[in-house]
Amino acid sequence: MGFPKIRMRRLRSSSAMRRLVQKTTLSVDDLVYPLFVRDGSGIKEPIKSMDDCFHFSPDTIAAEAVEVASLGIPAVLLFGLPDKKDDIGSQAWAEDGVVQQAIREIKKAAPELLVVTDVCLCEYTSHGHCGVIKNNKVDNDPTCELLAKMALSHAQAGADIVAPSDMMDGRISSIREALEENNFKDVTIMSYAAKYASAFYGPFRDAAESAPAFGDRRTYQMDPASGTEQAMAEIALDIEEGADIVMVKPALAYLDIIAAAKQRFDCPLAAYNVSGEYMMVKNSAAAGLLDGKATMLELLTSIKRAGADILITYFAKDVAKEIK
Ligand code: PBG
Repeated sequence: MGFPKIRMRRLRSSSAMRRLVQKTTLSVDDLVYPLFVRDGSGIKEPIKSMDDCFHFSPDTIAAEAVEVASLGIPAVLLFGLPDKKDDIGSQAWAEDGVVQQAIREIKKAAPELLVVTDVCLCEYTSHGHCGVIKNNKVDNDPTCELLAKMALSHAQAGADIVAPSDMMDGRISSIREALEENNFKDVTIMSYAAKYASAFYGPFRDAAESAPAFGDRRTYQMDPASGTEQAMAEIALDIEEGADIVMVKPALAYLDIIAAAKQRFDCPLAAYNVSGEYMMVKNSAAAGLLDGKATMLELLTSIKRAGADILITYFAKDVAKEIK
């Protein structure tokens, strides 16, 4: 056997042939679109660090949600920017907090759209860290209690999925327990299970006004140089603690982690195509170096091919229009 009996090019000899043998298809059904909501009213302001992304207020976000739903995208992921920050991030679980208001507005305007909420304190704390600070360090266990309060208040406002992104130990247990105790049995937890301390979050930290005032996030987010085993251990623990969906973040530099997680675990796997990955494409396209559309499709297809079931991406609206 071998050449010339085998000619690999036969299977890619025409567009129809390529379609016939292709394995990975992008689907609108897999997309989650992130949205940023800030205190105020009548706001729709472009985010400087992220092309085609906006800061909305709770009253204007509903129209955006309706548009997202009309494109067939099943879910939005909400990030909140409160006016008032303090050292424990208490606006995060306020009943009239900015995300809580936005959830109610979206549920009124587009009831079929799933609302996912980012559960993390960094946008709410004056110091910008993802938890409470004790002796200059993020204190794990008290932080979990606050995250549980935050997740519960999102559930009370009507969130379908809560997505903790802080990387504290034991936060999935704390959140699951709070949800069960308060009879939110169907609220789904999508855990940022393997989240790395990444430079690719740069544009987001501007958009979310969440850069840490001192130090960095390396004592809680994972080391990019750590082994695949550590990522698998993180994911296994979160599933054991009650996560329904697990996530790898960022996506592009971590396709090996996505592939390993897909092989090992049965629950739905999400990948977060983060702000830096998005802006690399947008800027290169704007500079005339890349075909923006083709690059977007290739990258998202690759994340899916690696094993992601769910794609969280700022490209969601663009790609939905493209593949419709
Ligand atoms: C934390 C959070 C971050 C992102 C999502 N949730 C920033 C961070 O961990 O510093 C990054 C998302 C992106 O870059 O697109 N609340």
